Amino acid sequence: MASKCLSLLVVVCSILLASASIEAALGGWQTIKNVTDPKVVEIAEFAVKQHNNMHVSGMLRLVSVVKGETQIVNGINYKLVVSAADAADLMTQSNYQVVVLDKPWMKERNLISFVKIAA
Ligand SMILES: *[C@@H]1O[C@H](CO)[C@@H](O)[C@H](O)[C@H]1NC(C)=O
Repeated sequence: MASKCLSLLVVVCSILLASASIEAALGGWQTIKNVTDPKVVEIAEFAVKQHNNMHVSGMLRLVSVVKGETQIVNGINYKLVVSAADAADLMTQSNYQVVVLDKPWMKERNLISFVKIAA
């Protein structure tokens, strides 16, 4: 009985701790420390792929992720600055700000915006 109470307490405490850290991150943008993180690169690749699917001309190829931030909302918002090259002319590169909303638990991922920014 006592051990049951104890494990219940541990569970309750972990839930409280987890929600506290989610609370802290809610709404606020957190700088991505490592932009070469495979997950971040995957999000950037997704954004470029979606962009290419929507644009028949002007296909792009991801060069690198310059920087990024994440925000926890009703999913995880990724706001990244990516460097991408013109697929037909790899020497022509520009920076783009992309926003992707990722909901891994719902297997959902959407490109919210893809905007060219000044290099
Ligand atoms: C960033 O992530 C990559 C890929 O996981 C890893 O190889 C690299 O060491 C990381 N860099 C830092 C500074 O943590």
